[in-house]
Amino acid sequence: MALIEARDLTKTYTMGDQTVHALRGVSLDIEAGGFVAIMGASGSGKSTLMNILGCLDVPTSGHYRLAAEAVDGLAPDALASIRNRRIGFVFQQFNLLPRTSALENVELPMVYAGIKGPERRARALAALQRVGLGERAGHTPSELSGGQQQRVAIARALVNQPSLILADEPTGALDTTTSEDIMKLLTELNQQGMTVVLVTHEPDIATWARRKLVFRDGVMVEDSTSPLVDVTHAPIPLGAMPA
Ligand SMILES: Nc1ncnc2c1ncn2[C@@H]1O[C@H](COP(=O)(O)OP(=O)(O)OP(=O)(O)O)[C@@H](O)[C@H]1O
Ligand SMILES: [Mg+2]
Repeated sequence: MALIEARDLTKTYTMGDQTVHALRGVSLDIEAGGFVAIMGASGSGKSTLMNILGCLDVPTSGHYRLAAEAVDGLAPDALASIRNRRIGFVFQQFNLLPRTSALENVELPMVYAGIKGPERRARALAALQRVGLGERAGHTPSELSGGQQQRVAIARALVNQPSLILADEPTGALDTTTSEDIMKLLTELNQQGMTVVLVTHEPDIATWARRKLVFRDGVMVEDSTSPLVDVTHAPIPLGAMPA
C-alpha cells in the first residue's frame, strides 16, 4: 500500500507582484518501506515538496494522503498531530536546541506528545543507544561532532516511532566519511521498516536510495528505481558504530 499518495500538487508563492510557481503539478506515490532520494537544482521545489509531505505546509492545490488519511484541508492543529505521530524530520543543520543535552533534545517530541517524564527519558535513551550515542546522552550539541549531532537529530526523529522519516540534505553539512555513517544509519532504519525520503545534491548519497526522483522547475522529470541491491552498502550493526 502507498504510504504517500500525492496528486497534482501545486505550490505558488506570491510576494508583492511576483509569483513563484514552486511546484507545478506533482503526482507521486511512495510505498511503505520505500527509500527515496530527491534530487534537482537549487530552487527546483525539493524542500517545498518535503514541507508538504511532512505536513509542515499545505499545497496551493492538489491532494495529499498520508497512510490513507487525507491531509489537504486539515486545520493546523490536526496537521501538527499527524506530524507528531507519523513523521520524523532530519535537517541539514541538525536543528538541535543549543545548551540542551542530547537526551533532552531527543525527549522533546515526546513532550509535545504528552508522554510522562520517566518513560520519556527511557525512550530517549533507547533512541540514543540505537544511533550509537548512549554514552553521550548528557552532552550538549557544542560538545558533539557534526556527525554525532546529526545522529542525535535522527534519534529525535525516531523517538515517536514514525512511519516516515523526511531528511532534507541530511549530509549537506558533513564530510564524506561522516555522511556515509549517516547513510548507513538511515539504511538500517529503512531495513527495519521505516520509509525514508531524503533530499540530496550529491549523486553518491542518492545511490544509497532504491528510488531516485529528479525535479526541475517544480516538475518531476525523472523517477527511476534501481534493480539491484548494492552490496557495497551493506549496513553495519548500530552497536558497532563509533560514537
Ligand atoms: N516561503 C517562500 N516564499 C516565497 N518563495 C519561496 C518560499 N519558499 C520557497 N520559495 C521559492 O520556491 C522555489 C522552490 O524553492 P525550494 O526551497 O523548494 O527549492 P529547493 O529545490 O529546495 O532548493 P535548494 O536546493 O536550494 O534547497 C524557489 O524559487 C524559492 O525561491
Ligand atoms: Mg531546499
